[in-house]
Amino acid sequence: MQNPENTAASTHIAVDLVLDTAYQNISAPQWEKLFTLARKSKLEEFIADMFAGKHVNLSEDRPALHSALRNLSKLPVMLDGKDVMPAVTDVWRRIEALCNKWVGVTDVIHIGIGGSDFGPRLAIEALAHVPGIESRGMRMHFLANIDTAELARILDRAQPNSTRVIIVSKSFTTLETTMNAKAVVNWLKDKDCTKGQIANSLYAVTANVSAAREFGIEQDNIFPFWDWVGGRYSVWSAVGLPIALQYGFKNFEKFLAGAHAMDLHFKNAPLEQNLPVIMSLALLHQQETLGIKAYAAIPYADALDWFPKWLQQLDMESNGKSIDRDGKPVKHSSPVVFGSAGSNAQHSYFQLLHQGSDVVPIDFIAVRKPMSDRPEAVAHHRILLSNCLAQAQALAHGKKAENPNDVYPGNRPSNLILLPELNAFYLGALLALYENRAASLGALWNINSFDQPGVEYGKVLAKPIEKALLGDSHVEANDNIDAVTAARINLLNS
Ligand code: F6P
Repeated sequence: MQNPENTAASTHIAVDLVLDTAYQNISAPQWEKLFTLARKSKLEEFIADMFAGKHVNLSEDRPALHSALRNLSKLPVMLDGKDVMPAVTDVWRRIEALCNKWVGVTDVIHIGIGGSDFGPRLAIEALAHVPGIESRGMRMHFLANIDTAELARILDRAQPNSTRVIIVSKSFTTLETTMNAKAVVNWLKDKDCTKGQIANSLYAVTANVSAAREFGIEQDNIFPFWDWVGGRYSVWSAVGLPIALQYGFKNFEKFLAGAHAMDLHFKNAPLEQNLPVIMSLALLHQQETLGIKAYAAIPYADALDWFPKWLQQLDMESNGKSIDRDGKPVKHSSPVVFGSAGSNAQHSYFQLLHQGSDVVPIDFIAVRKPMSDRPEAVAHHRILLSNCLAQAQALAHGKKAENPNDVYPGNRPSNLILLPELNAFYLGALLALYENRAASLGALWNINSFDQPGVEYGKVLAKPIEKALLGDSHVEANDNIDAVTAARINLLNS
């Protein structure tokens, strides 16, 4: 690697999170050019507009104001002339009240998919590993897939009389969610729960309150959020209710506080010190110089195994687009994102990362403190961290050898992101770091990071196909079903 930076130049710190870009192979003059490019792309103006509630989501003519959901500053956040904070604060108070109200609950079934699932699922999993965290020990079940495997497994374990159900859907029209919700209500009925018991058990989190009412949820059990919060940016709203219910409202507040601190950094730090901006420029550089098409996020923390899945939606739903904000074809957009916890990942796809024919940049995410208080924790953690550091070094420098099989090409860029420890605060900061990085990348690529029109067409086509799967007659290709799909339907129907 020609340009590994020295530590002083490559180490950036915000909200106690360290970003080390030494192995990005970007020289000082190249960094300078990148920051000039960011300024030319009006990145600073975009950041200011986003936090000011301007309609940066052009296609849907809305702001992207998820930052207001974690705005603990007591300062107003104005949207079209009205402060949104009283409504946000009211939901916080209701979440806190609910935490105090729920006693004797053994099971929570959280029904939601995509942005209504990944964030709370990741946080519940991650915080479960925090040594000594206060937890109410409820069984938290996440039901996302329409496949009944998940449903069956959950309903086998849950105790109907002490179960609470939270139906989470921004639109309240997502078929997976409404069908799973109906199935769970039927299960409660089958288990002889009374009407009153069922009404008390059902909660909703949604931006479509009337649809939740129509579904049969009591008004007092509905937690609203708003169309200015994108689904994949919604864990900070009542979508994150399970975090507060399981780990207490204080931990939920800490989660928000970590994200808020990262927002303040993103909003106020000069570009040269701004972590989300630096990360986005490094990725842009790798696209320009190495033509990268994929990147990996590898948390060296089992607790963060769900992080790459959350990130996949964030990055690829936000920036997986071929048309820019002006309707023109883009030069760059989101690479494919993948990852899983290290060191397990090393024993899976790291062969390709070291010696594959394509370069895949990596974010190594590590936590300074061990993730348990087992007597073995310190020794195991040292090995975990040494693996993380060794992989980055091997990828950067490669290895020469006589035998071509043993040659590592090197020059494979990576970041190191180091958390002091994993707790609600730093988890919030980490997620907001990546949310802001996605927004920054969108601004650099001139992509609207806040809509997702591409996921709709497949849903529309599923309807006539479902109808065809219901019938037992031979299906011919038609306007909605092509010859290949017709043949597959006939195969399934045979
Ligand atoms: O699949 C697309 C999507 O619209 C995501 O953007 C969203 O997070 C998910 O579906 C769930 O949507 P909802 O919260 O409206 O049920």
